[in-house]
Amino acid sequence: MSEPDSSQTLFWTKRWEQGKIPWDCGGIPPSLVEFLRRVPGPTRVLIPGCGSGYEVRAFHEVGHDVSAIEFSAPAVAHAREILGPLGERVIHGNFFKHDFAGNRYGLVYERGFLCSLPTERWTDYAARMAALIPPGGKLVGLFLYGNEPEPPPFPLTEPVAAELLGRFFRRVYSESVEDSVPVYKGLERWQEWERIPG
Ligand SMILES: C[S@@+](CC[C@H](N)C(=O)[O-])C[C@H]1O[C@@H](n2cnc3c(N)ncnc32)[C@H](O)[C@@H]1O
Repeated sequence: MSEPDSSQTLFWTKRWEQGKIPWDCGGIPPSLVEFLRRVPGPTRVLIPGCGSGYEVRAFHEVGHDVSAIEFSAPAVAHAREILGPLGERVIHGNFFKHDFAGNRYGLVYERGFLCSLPTERWTDYAARMAALIPPGGKLVGLFLYGNEPEPPPFPLTEPVAAELLGRFFRRVYSESVEDSVPVYKGLERWQEWERIPG
């Protein structure tokens, strides 16, 4: 049987079951800690493809109303174990199919999700983000840029990011990150994209 591609739950479930999770940084990325110090007021936050979901606690502790969504069952179980009572914030579902019941999010946090998706899914990612984030809201987090001979991860390039996200968002912040896990080394940038009207 051929290997499922990385848009399929099975691809990720296999890795979670085998404990092969080299993207997992074991805690809260320092860039997020820094962002949380300067972000204004509490808002509704979504973390798609949350994996271990450490960041749920970080957002919660500073007063945000945070939810996360993850489609691989062992990852959801793992996140709920890590998060204890906050585990109820993790939705077991597919970001592209879940019914968010009309909720919109002032902040969506990205790490390791866009780059986990085959590039054919990227326009759906951008459209879904645009639908979930109202004008003025932000898509923020760690995005990968560069070349990866054996994806996933699938990194962005500047022109692709401008074309893909620039339709709905304006980039308001971008900074290279030095403390990435080895599989993301040299590729990660902390970025903030603000939803524009339309
Ligand atoms: C590379 S991991 C990153 C996990 C986490 N964000 C982190 O930074 O450690 C990608 C995660 O996204 C999840 N995922 C991929 N596609 C998804 C989808 N359509 N809906 C929900 N979760 C998804 C996978 O199961 C996997 O746990």
